[in-house]
Amino acid sequence: MNNAVTANAKVMIIYGTRPEAIKLAPVIKAFEQDPTLTPIVVVTAQHREMLDQVNGVFEVIPDVDLNLMAHGQTLNDIAGTVISQIDEILDMYRPAAAVVQGDTTTVMAAAIASFNREIPVVHLEAGLRSGNIQSPFPEEANRKIVSQIASIHLAPTEVSRTNLLTDGVPDDRIHVIGNTVIDALNWAVSRPPRDGHPLSNRLETDTRRVLLVTTHRRENLGAHMVSIGRAMRQLALKFPDLLIVWPAHKNPEVRASITPQIEDVGNIISTEPLEYGEFSRLLARSDIVLTDSGGIQEEAPSLGKPVLVLRENTERPEAVAAGGVKLIGTNTNRIVDEVSTLLDDDEAYSSMANAMNPYGDGRSAERCLTIIKKFLNI
Ligand code: UD1
Ligand code: UDP
Repeated sequence: MNNAVTANAKVMIIYGTRPEAIKLAPVIKAFEQDPTLTPIVVVTAQHREMLDQVNGVFEVIPDVDLNLMAHGQTLNDIAGTVISQIDEILDMYRPAAAVVQGDTTTVMAAAIASFNREIPVVHLEAGLRSGNIQSPFPEEANRKIVSQIASIHLAPTEVSRTNLLTDGVPDDRIHVIGNTVIDALNWAVSRPPRDGHPLSNRLETDTRRVLLVTTHRRENLGAHMVSIGRAMRQLALKFPDLLIVWPAHKNPEVRASITPQIEDVGNIISTEPLEYGEFSRLLARSDIVLTDSGGIQEEAPSLGKPVLVLRENTERPEAVAAGGVKLIGTNTNRIVDEVSTLLDDDEAYSSMANAMNPYGDGRSAERCLTIIKKFLNI
């Protein structure tokens, strides 16, 4: 591969889902400020509404939109379409490098398409590993595949650097830069609140403690999700002074399992996915977070919020080691017990709330830009 490129190099940024859009937005902004690079923003739209919501907040207008989301899409539907359609886009633009972020099917397929065209792949948020190829499924495999074919690996922490070295990635191809989610979060929480959002307005004057819940993992669909919904119901009934807020993921399978458990309970609010600025403010207003999300495990510790993770393992062990995140699985009784402890025991609460954020200082996008320019000799 020839990476001797002159100024105004085209760098393609390819993404498809909400978390990729959030974590790439600071990178796109940094590229836009740099006169020597021309960013080409390509969205697969593996997510539709949830992707558009983020691009709207960060005012990113994609150059290419493959618009591929379908209800009931399978992993191979997504992978097949992304590989063939991204291939055409790569042929059309012939970028000097392609940037992908994270572990979704869009990421894995876009990386393969780029590799096959001998376009160097830059992998942002490289090196996360749970150690279990089945969980998260298929994300653990996606990450490992991308690590085999990427040219530059931008790892968020030293833990992820070590994982990459263990997988045989050469040391000089790995750079620890923190996680760009902290850049995005800092930006979002520093923006003035939007007027008129009913939830923000309501929570400003509501003195109740808030439990924020989000769920979506494929391996939690079905019985695990029902079990989580039952726990939400039991907690709401056990603590009438608690407000539970559930911004529901757009996946209809998530809603089908949780909604029947909670729809008649007064102190549970379910909402559509919240716009990122609004979600960040809700996170800052919350007391406890119950989630199976990856990104929220990274964001909540930097706002001092204890996170109980609805999984048995995590590829983000740093915040668990720091004490701000605890893995609790999806058993209804366990969830109720763990949340109750944090609500009833001030000491248990503060030891989680005061743990440090291990995911960076909010300047990761700037480091990403510097490393890519050096790689491209510009
Ligand atoms: C995907 C990623 C997962 C990531 C998650 C973030 C894969 C295999 N999974 O999971 O790694 O953590 O995104 O949320 O890449 N839907 C909509 N509108 C949207 C988004 C989704 O209607 O804006 C519905 C559609 O019916 C879609 C379904 O949700 O078919 C599932 O979406 P999909 O991207 O396949 O999986 P996620 O569970 O969202
Ligand atoms: N998020 C959001 N609105 C919501 C729920 C989540 O903007 O209603 C953001 C959240 O702040 C985080 C990201 O979405 O940055 C996490 O996305 P998700 O949980 O879907 O994916 P994961 O991080 O698990 O891959």
